[in-house]
Parts: sequence; C-alpha cells; structure tokens
Amino acid sequence: MTTETAAEAPSFPLTRGCPFAPPETATAFREADAPRRVTIWDGSTPWLITRHDQIQQVLGARGAFGADVTDPGFPNTSSAQPTVEGEIFFRKDGDEHLPIRRILNPDFTAKRSEALRPRIAELTEVLLDKLESGSRPVDLVEEYALALPTVVICEVLGVPYEESPVVHESSKKLVQLSLPMEEKVAAHQALHENLARNMEKKRTEPDDGLLSRLVNTFVDEKEQISFEDAVRLGTLVIGAGHETTANMIGLGILAFLREPEQRAILLSAPATYAGSATEEMMRYWSMVQTEPRRVCLEDTEVGGVLIKAGEGIICNLPAANRDPEVFAEPETLDITRTERRHIGFGFGIHQCLGQNLSRVEMQEAWPRLFRRFSGLRLAVDEKELHFHDDALTYGLEELPVTW
Ligand code: HEM
Repeated sequence: MTTETAAEAPSFPLTRGCPFAPPETATAFREADAPRRVTIWDGSTPWLITRHDQIQQVLGARGAFGADVTDPGFPNTSSAQPTVEGEIFFRKDGDEHLPIRRILNPDFTAKRSEALRPRIAELTEVLLDKLESGSRPVDLVEEYALALPTVVICEVLGVPYEESPVVHESSKKLVQLSLPMEEKVAAHQALHENLARNMEKKRTEPDDGLLSRLVNTFVDEKEQISFEDAVRLGTLVIGAGHETTANMIGLGILAFLREPEQRAILLSAPATYAGSATEEMMRYWSMVQTEPRRVCLEDTEVGGVLIKAGEGIICNLPAANRDPEVFAEPETLDITRTERRHIGFGFGIHQCLGQNLSRVEMQEAWPRLFRRFSGLRLAVDEKELHFHDDALTYGLEELPVTW
C-alpha cells in the first residue's frame, strides 16, 4: 500500500481537450489504476478517484466517507461553499440527511415519474409547437432544454403553469456564473417568494404536488420541519434538477445531430430505444464533472492507496463511465448498449433524488424533437459551440439550430 505525496498534483477542475471525451488527465489517472492527488483553489490536494469500482467503493461505503461540507477536510469548491451549503440536507450525513431524503422520496419514485409521463409528453409538445411557430435559427438550450425541466418541476411541486416563467427566469440566473451577486440574490428571493406564496395557498387548496405534501403533512401535521425549511426544500429541488437535466437534454441533442445512425435507431422505435438511449447518453456525457465530493472519516485503502481520515476526495464520473473494465468500447456512443452500470446519477446513499424524473424528461424530449423536425441541423459550425468546462455540470452555452 502507498501513501502518495502531494507532489505534482495537477490543478482541478480539469478541462477537456476534446469536448466529447473526459479530461485527458482523468483518463490517464484511471489508467494508472490508483487514486491520485489534484490541487484545488485553496492549495489543498484531495484525491481524485477515477476508476468505476473505486468510486463505487467510496460512495457505497457506510461511515468511512462523509458528505458534510462543513467538515474541515471536505474539498470545498470555494471558501463560500460551507457557508452557503452548510445547512443543505444533501451536504450532510446520517440523521441530518436521511429523514429529509425520506420526506422527498415519494414524489420522485420510478412509479410517480412514470405516472407523469403523459403530462411531460404534453408539455414537450407545447414547447415544440412554440418552436415550430417561432423564428429560426433558435437556441435550443434556452427554448427547449432549459424550458422543459422548468415546466416539469413546476408540475411536480404544484406551481401553476402560468407562473413557470418566474421559476424559469430565477433558476436560470442562479446558475449563471458571471451574474453579479445582487442579481442572484434577487433571483433567489423571487423564487423563494413564489414558492412560499404557493405553499401557503396549498393549506386551503391542497393537491397532490410536493409543496402541498410538505406544508400539510410535514409542517402542519407532523411538525417535522418549519414552513421556511419546506420552502427551502422546494427551492433546492428546483436548483438541483434544473441545470443538470437541461444540460443533458442539450448535449443529447448535439450527440444525435452528430451521429445520424444513432438518431435513426432511436426514431425507428422510440418506445424500445428511448430508455437505453437515455442511459447511454448519461454514460457518454457524464456531465456532473466536479462532484461527488467526500471527506474521509476513517483511514481506508482505495486501489492500494491509504486515504487518511480528514483527507478530501473528488470522484470523477466522466472517467469512470468510460472505464473499459466495465463498458466495452467505452468511447463509442451506442444507444443499443445493454450494460447499464453507469454512475452518472451517483451511487450509494446520496444517489440522485430526481433521476427517475429526468429519465422520463430525456426519453420524451429527444424522440419528440427529432420526429417533429426531421431536418434539424446546427445553425453554426460545430467548432463555434461553447461548452462550460470547469463548472459543476458540463454543458452547452447555446445550441443554435435550424431546420
Ligand atoms: C440529468 C439530470 C441529473 C443528473 C446528471 C444528476 C446527478 C446527480 C448526482 C451525480 C448526484 C449525487 C451527488 C453526490 O453523491 O454527492 C445527485 C444528487 C441529487 N440530485 Fe440529481 N441529477 C440530475 C437531476 C436531478 C433532478 C431532476 C433533481 C430534482 C428533482 C435532482 C435532485 C438531486 C438531489 C436532491 C440530490 C442529493 C440527494 C442526496 O444527497 O440524498 N437531480 N444528482
């Protein structure tokens, strides 16, 4: 067993030389088999884990690795992270995490998301109608990829459709890296106010949405959380699911544009291939690129390296999902692939809450778009597309298309 020193730890976040492949450094680390150190913004050198089996070991281990951003050894993304995220349930462990996760789970089961499919299909068609009657070229990131998760999450929460533009505008601003802080605070406030008002209304007009269940069951009946906590949970759910799903929808469209054979397979039998296409796109793009992060709580060996209590860990999903020990021809996009062990939604106790919902969204978004616009094509040269490379999630800034 080795206890590698911190020497020559490349700086993190890593960037991608090729937009369609994981960062070369992550791939090289994976090929070296063992965890290696990287240097983050504060000069500390957490371990980067890149192999599929080792990431499963870390994320699946109970008690040996923690998710608490306020732990001094946690590899934070900035000095603000512990202050901003310190109270968030998914940045916590054990009793501070699981009871809240259990409150939310029922609204995001596979069955519940499947029951929403007809409504998601309908909302998708409304967006497509708007695209068809609008001008071209059009930016599909703004008008489709971001728009769909917004109207869907409003449906899940029980925010009226007419108010979805408020949610759309606010959540878009929250993830814009370059936006001044005052504008972000104002956007957060607008979102918070909208959810609080809607939640208050559900006390007298209950429905089967998440806001209604939060306020009527968990605030008023069980007194498990405060009204403010419930509003915050609603905001969190919007924040966690908005940009992630949107980026995946955009990247998936680009992949189908680049690979007409894959598009033809999808359209030949959407009911058969939309499911496997979604899993393959999740694997291929692995767009969560700077998470999951953990702090080691007890000395643990991973891939022959001793990770010590108090040391930080960053898991690299893009490299793991191209691990040739798990996926045959991992660099190839193949929507008929049956190997589904990708970890694009994470693994273990913190595995994505909204994965079933975003699966249904992707499964409806891609075939419906390409069926409606059979001549869909990029309106710019592929080289002109901009990807955000060092953000938490990988994605396209814009996707200008025409037909
Ligand atoms: C394609 C879309 C999505 C991707 C790729 C994605 C990815 C992930 C990943 C990798 C994690 C694990 C983080 C960790 O272990 O530290 C995670 C957790 C989480 N995701 Fe997603 N996500 C997506 C969509 C959504 C949606 C739609 C929602 C909400 C409706 C959501 C809510 C959450 C929450 C609340 C957690 C934390 C769960 C916990 O700690 O128990 N995600 N997601």
